[in-house]
Amino acid sequence: MTTYLPENDLGTPRGTGTETVSVTIDGHAVEVPSGTSVMRAAAEAGVAIPKLCATDSLKAFGSCRMCLVEVEGGRGTPASCTTPCSDGMVVHTDTDTVQGLRRNVMELYLSDHPADCQGCARGSCEIQSLAHDVGSAEVRYGLPSPARENTVDDSNPYFDYDPAACIVCSRCVRACGEIQGTFALTVEGRGLDSRISPGGTDFLSSECVSCGACVQACPTSALEEKSLIQLGMPTRVVDTTCAYCGVGCSFRAEVQGDGDDTRVVRMVPSKDGGANEGHSCVKGRFAYGYASHDDRQLDPMVRDSIDDEWRVVSWGEAIAKVAQGFQAIQSAHGVGAIGGISSSRCTNEEVYVVQKMVRAAFGNNNVDTCARVCHSPTGFGLSQTFGTSAGTQDFASVEQADVVLLIGANPTDAHPVFASRLKKRLREGAQIIVADPRRIALVRSPHIEAAHHLPVLPGANVAFVNAMAHVAVAEGLYDADFVRERCENIEGYLEFIADPAHSPEATEDVTGIPAEQLRAAARLFAGARNAAIYYGLGVTEHSQGSTMVMGMANLAMITGNLGREGVGVNPLRGQNNVQGSCDMGSFPHEFPGYRHVSRDDVRAIYEGLWGKTLSAEPGLRIPNMFDSALSGDFRGLYVQGEDIAQSDPNTQHVEAALRAMDLVVVQDLFLNETARFAHVFLPGTSFLEKDGTFTNAERRINRVRPVLSPRQGKDEWQITCDIASAMGYPMDYDSPAQIMDEIAATTPTFAGVSFDRLDAEGSMQWPVNDQAPHGTPTMHVGEFVRGKGRLIETVYVPTTERSTRRFPLILTTGRILSQYNVGAQTRRTGNNAWHPEDVLEIHPSDAELRGISTGDLVALSSRVGTTTLRAEVSLRMPPGVVYTTFHHPVTGANVVTTENSDWATNCPEYKVTAVQVEVANSHGETDAEAAARGDEREAAGRA
Ligand code: SF4
Ligand code: SF4
Ligand code: SF4
Ligand code: FES
Repeated sequence: MTTYLPENDLGTPRGTGTETVSVTIDGHAVEVPSGTSVMRAAAEAGVAIPKLCATDSLKAFGSCRMCLVEVEGGRGTPASCTTPCSDGMVVHTDTDTVQGLRRNVMELYLSDHPADCQGCARGSCEIQSLAHDVGSAEVRYGLPSPARENTVDDSNPYFDYDPAACIVCSRCVRACGEIQGTFALTVEGRGLDSRISPGGTDFLSSECVSCGACVQACPTSALEEKSLIQLGMPTRVVDTTCAYCGVGCSFRAEVQGDGDDTRVVRMVPSKDGGANEGHSCVKGRFAYGYASHDDRQLDPMVRDSIDDEWRVVSWGEAIAKVAQGFQAIQSAHGVGAIGGISSSRCTNEEVYVVQKMVRAAFGNNNVDTCARVCHSPTGFGLSQTFGTSAGTQDFASVEQADVVLLIGANPTDAHPVFASRLKKRLREGAQIIVADPRRIALVRSPHIEAAHHLPVLPGANVAFVNAMAHVAVAEGLYDADFVRERCENIEGYLEFIADPAHSPEATEDVTGIPAEQLRAAARLFAGARNAAIYYGLGVTEHSQGSTMVMGMANLAMITGNLGREGVGVNPLRGQNNVQGSCDMGSFPHEFPGYRHVSRDDVRAIYEGLWGKTLSAEPGLRIPNMFDSALSGDFRGLYVQGEDIAQSDPNTQHVEAALRAMDLVVVQDLFLNETARFAHVFLPGTSFLEKDGTFTNAERRINRVRPVLSPRQGKDEWQITCDIASAMGYPMDYDSPAQIMDEIAATTPTFAGVSFDRLDAEGSMQWPVNDQAPHGTPTMHVGEFVRGKGRLIETVYVPTTERSTRRFPLILTTGRILSQYNVGAQTRRTGNNAWHPEDVLEIHPSDAELRGISTGDLVALSSRVGTTTLRAEVSLRMPPGVVYTTFHHPVTGANVVTTENSDWATNCPEYKVTAVQVEVANSHGETDAEAAARGDEREAAGRA
């Protein structure tokens, strides 16, 4: 924790030239890469040049004339922000001439700024400090236009725009375009009447996605966080990591007060964050209020039956009930009758102790994680082909990609900060192929047009990727040298994929993609200098999810797109720490570091350290736990930070399994849907209270630092240790740092990781070991982790879930930007302003056939259940396919999803459900009834 200071602003980005140039600025010699501005070089030499329109997150603009300098041998007074350094240049930044010019410029700006600005909340307003620095006091010209007074736009839930304080420097306009890539803002009006406009409407109604980049770039209080206006300036800063998605953005938590009186004033994305480099999205930037929401359950509670009222108890009583309950079940029904589910929302250290408790204290391997329902096929598929269960690149790698194949992912909604980076690369000229049944934003948005949108039908991914590879091989476009040198099973695979049965023409009816279009896309991908694959849950959540991951790995290998920047196979992972929870041994067949439990050498490591004989038998996966519960064999479950009753498929089946158990222990922030079936509730901690690490989608291990003390009085790792200890297996650590030391000592890919090193280096991407002491941004350079990359024949097997006369449409699911997962956090924030309910997107022809209009309440039915939600008629969908999100319990989208799952990992087939859609009245359920049903579900959870 450090005293609050604004982040240093060096004025312009650093040059990217390969040459180095030497300049002298006010007598200070400095060397910088060619292309670096005089302003930036001066800042690096410790000389601050006054500036207004420049900031180091944006390209220099050169409009304010505040940064003028004199260059020996040069003419006039050039703007230092737009003047590149040249070798031998001698610059003077503080001559009488430039001082006088700056005072005149400042006077003009002050004439356009409220006279009472000394009283504004920002406190760090650059105008004020600049006026002081350049010595401006007198204002001889005009005053702000009355048209700009009293027109504050406070429509956005998180920030206001006050035109009276705006100096029209256009930093915000440029931030929205250059950094965020939304282009929502323009300058409207002229002269003193000019102001910033979000497309002629207010911020909330505009295209603005509330990322906060404009607020961060604004040098005045014109764009300002409401929280800052309300609370005033922060006094301290804690560096930490966002707890929403797998991008893993670094943030400065800017706070006031101490101890229990600590208040978060705002979350500001860190410029030196490895994953985000100063950018953020609406969730990480603003939607942290759930941590202090009244719904937080802060006391341990118990009840004997799920029909009883909850009873608040001490931590000691709650832990004793858990331990005695689990021991009683094991005595009566065997060691394997209990298990645990770890959370991908929790830290690596918290997850590590959960799997240790299950393996050492429970004495079995019945541990699983929510990755089961999202990216378990990624782990399996990439480990089979490349030898490691993780993506191959860092996010910055996309800046070197020439062609991006995006499959089954919607990054502008689900991974927004990565999407901004991707959009920037596309604006620089890279091309994108979007393979998705839905017309997502990246198909067409400001300054972006996909080279191809391939509307692959749900369930046909493997046929699609095989057709892409077929074209590369059949047309001789593949990288024969790479394949020969780096791959195995070459002949078998080439013979398989060259079969005309895999051609775009032969598979056109299956994929739904016109053959010529698929051929063109394949040629574009195979012919690119650097082609990269990025994918999401639209790949993994299928009955052939693992096959598809291997199919993409095949495509990358045969086109030689691995082992350098700009290429690779890159999963966009969902939860903040889903990579970490998998790394930490949350799967029932693997110890930390993806080592199978049957390996004697690995068990020996843990048996030696933990002093227990460990089971060599893989344990139960989540769906097996449910099946086993229904057959009476599995009777006790510890669930940490995962709302399985809402997030897992076929809700009725899950609820029946939970109801069948003798002891369900839920550890969470809120009394969620799963808590309706719990006998013990253990309150958990939010990310603002955690101390530990998260690992993001690029294998980057980031520190999470406590901003507040645990509000319920206990760290989550301590709760787990207490349960294990109460069961007779003492687990005791001084701190999360000590847990990480144990992880590093036992897991080769984490060998060089410690809190001290992370604190010193900021973040590191595993593997971190003797060969890669600072981490590994790009994997499989020179050779694959498994030696040769394995080409695997990926046979397409159609899913058994098909449309029928009764269920003629296919439902697929996804996320929306403002909400997150089951919505437990985001629904308790101002983000509800954008997405207060889930909607069903349906193509106009399917809607017309059913008499459905936008806003109608419709019943969505599958062979396993029915739910009700509002329709949105949309050309984003192709005919025959409907789409919804799953953020609101009132909808309960998983009421209709089936128990179909990936053949290798049991990852549910969320993306393909045969459904019927009808106007809701035909099911007799009204809007009010549906709302009441949702309320009841929530209320029951809290009862
Ligand atoms: S709102 Fe702020 S950043 Fe935008 S033009 Fe006005 S002063 Fe500049
Ligand atoms: S918040 Fe983000 S999207 Fe909205 S106007 Fe500002 S920069 Fe643009
Ligand atoms: S992109 Fe993801 S990690 Fe970054 S701020 Fe948004 S939700 Fe958080
Ligand atoms: S800061 Fe250089 S012209 Fe504005």
